[in-house]
Amino acid sequence: MTATRIDGKAFAANVRAQVATHVARLREEHGITPGLAVVLVGEDPASQVYVRNKGKQTAEAGMASFEHKLEMTTPEAELLDLVARLNADPAVHGILVQLPLPDHIDADKVINTIDPAKDVDGFHISNVGLLGTGQKSMVPCTPLGCLMMLRDHLGDLSGLNAVVLGRSNIVGKPMAQLLLGESCTVTIAHSRTRDLPDVVRGADILVAAVGRPQMVPGDWIKPGATVIDVGINRIDKPEGGTRLVGDVDFDSAAAVAGAITPVPGGVGPMTIACLLANTVTACCRAHGLSEPEGLTA
Ligand code: GUN
Repeated sequence: MTATRIDGKAFAANVRAQVATHVARLREEHGITPGLAVVLVGEDPASQVYVRNKGKQTAEAGMASFEHKLEMTTPEAELLDLVARLNADPAVHGILVQLPLPDHIDADKVINTIDPAKDVDGFHISNVGLLGTGQKSMVPCTPLGCLMMLRDHLGDLSGLNAVVLGRSNIVGKPMAQLLLGESCTVTIAHSRTRDLPDVVRGADILVAAVGRPQMVPGDWIKPGATVIDVGINRIDKPEGGTRLVGDVDFDSAAAVAGAITPVPGGVGPMTIACLLANTVTACCRAHGLSEPEGLTA
């Protein structure tokens, strides 16, 4: 391995410590406690783990955590009603409705019912539009975490060729917008992209977010490139049992890249840390207070 390993776990611990400092100051100087409401519909095991971790880390940062667990069969109207109540609740500064939602619920409708000022996921169309036009918005947590690590590792990103592999609303598209905002030359590649290996070989920065285990081999990587692997895929081990891998083949990529995030321990821990950061940001904005530095895009 020649690449520097970008330690997302340590980076996330640092972000959480900064969040906790801001939270303590908000309480001491203004008597305000930032609050995050998380809504989970149904019993998807992965979502349950996420929600539990979110609740724990919110409380550890000194914030108020409100959890709403609804039955899988909850009617859409009932969920919309809950969102409306959370929008009106002054103790709630951030609202996250865990995705995916059951098929009978229109996820876009639910997301677009959240008050954009409390939309700590940055998924509301108004936040998407603000980000796309370079205005102040709530920025989706995973891309925000990737950007923080890229800035920390590379400093100025301007002029660099960035390839974002994947075009999801949660990661690929907002990531591309953020990199454009940093004056990168951005390509969004996806499953239909022609000559994908050659496109990826042009990347000074590669952000892989396709959800396909070890899809990117080392010989697609430009020597010295910075590789951010958003994928979290569980695969079977030959000797039995399972393990987590990214969208990039770590061993072969690490022999070529300048820096790379591991899976696990790379982007994953940054997502919840950025959710906490967004909640503090939303709380400061709601009260007309200055925003924490270094925790926004
Ligand atoms: N499900 C998987 N990732 C996310 C996320 O970042 N936000 C929400 N709301 N649901 C998710």
